[in-house]
Amino acid sequence: MPYNIHSKLTDNKPSIFSVMSALARKEGALNLSQGFPDFGIDTSLMEHLNDAVRKGLNQYAPMAGLPALREQIALKTAKLHGKLYDIEEEITVVPGATLGIFAAISAVIHPGDEVIIFDPAYDSYQPTIELNGGKAIQIPLTFPDFSIDWKQVSEAISSKTRMMILNSPHNPSGAMLSQNDLKELKKIVANTNILLISDEVYEHITFDGRKHLSFAGDEELAARSFVIASFGKTYHTTGWKMGYVLAPKALTKVLREGYQFMAFSAHTPTQYAFAKMLEDTSSYLNLGQFYQRKRDLFRQSIETSRFKIFPSYGSYFQLLGFDAITHEGDVAFAERLTKEFKIASIPISVFYKNQTDNKILRFCFAKKDETILKAAEILCKI
Ligand SMILES: Cc1ncc(COP(=O)(O)O)c(C=O)c1O
Repeated sequence: MPYNIHSKLTDNKPSIFSVMSALARKEGALNLSQGFPDFGIDTSLMEHLNDAVRKGLNQYAPMAGLPALREQIALKTAKLHGKLYDIEEEITVVPGATLGIFAAISAVIHPGDEVIIFDPAYDSYQPTIELNGGKAIQIPLTFPDFSIDWKQVSEAISSKTRMMILNSPHNPSGAMLSQNDLKELKKIVANTNILLISDEVYEHITFDGRKHLSFAGDEELAARSFVIASFGKTYHTTGWKMGYVLAPKALTKVLREGYQFMAFSAHTPTQYAFAKMLEDTSSYLNLGQFYQRKRDLFRQSIETSRFKIFPSYGSYFQLLGFDAITHEGDVAFAERLTKEFKIASIPISVFYKNQTDNKILRFCFAKKDETILKAAEILCKI
């Protein structure tokens, strides 16, 4: 090669989601690995998208997003969390939550800055911090309940700490932050320069009456937070890649400075379609119930299996422990399940800095009932 390339990442392996999905395709396995639904979308959403295209909404949207969509986002946030974000200066529509997270991190992280994240973490956080010259400080969540050890967090704070990234409902564990967590977090960041990313892509997928606590709903936290949302998770359209970032004016300003050169704007017809969907609040308010039924179907159908069923309070993931079945590592076992038993999952160790292996696999239950039942039948035979 006439040139040298050095990866900017300390770990430049392809993401586990692409690896497991590719293996599932190759092996013809049921794919409960990557987090996406295998069922169709609301027909009215299809019609709104068609309408937008026919109406000629096919050119660049304004950089911050279509005004009609930003208005609906502002109304929804005000109704659910009591905070009215300004549509001109505090709401930015982006092509997916992952890009929103990238734009937020790159807006404020300078070389040498430290960002606290919690393992197991969504896999974009650490590489995005590194691509921007920052350092990820990875704190493990407690096991087996996946909560935050606040004492460990306060000990990890240094003069270089610039940001913390939290995610609730949590991927992969389904755990959720409590009022007490928010209180502890506020104590730690009070009188500091620490900014927050609150990754809330599963905001509407909560179970058993649990309420999602958005950082938007807490004045002190909202004042230093980028709140990240994804329409992909809410409307079963992960392939449409559309999300948004809520942040106070000063943070939105720096976010947009960089974002205008990352994507400039997001897909116009899709924005129109989501604006229309948001007019009907039931399109997101019933989502928790919808997925709770699927979670319960999955859990009930594997009750007689040898897997240990962990709690799932939100998100569309179920963790299953397998230490009663084999001493294999979780990556090896996940691969064997895909090849031999034709069911794909995600091994949890890959979400940890030190590949901590608690012998757990993550299964996505955002699937047709028949897929869930087929998966359960396989799992019960293992
Ligand atoms: C915690 C978390 N954040 C962000 C995303 C990405 O969302 P999007 O597809 O809108 O980029 C995901 C998707 O799996 C996720 O689980």
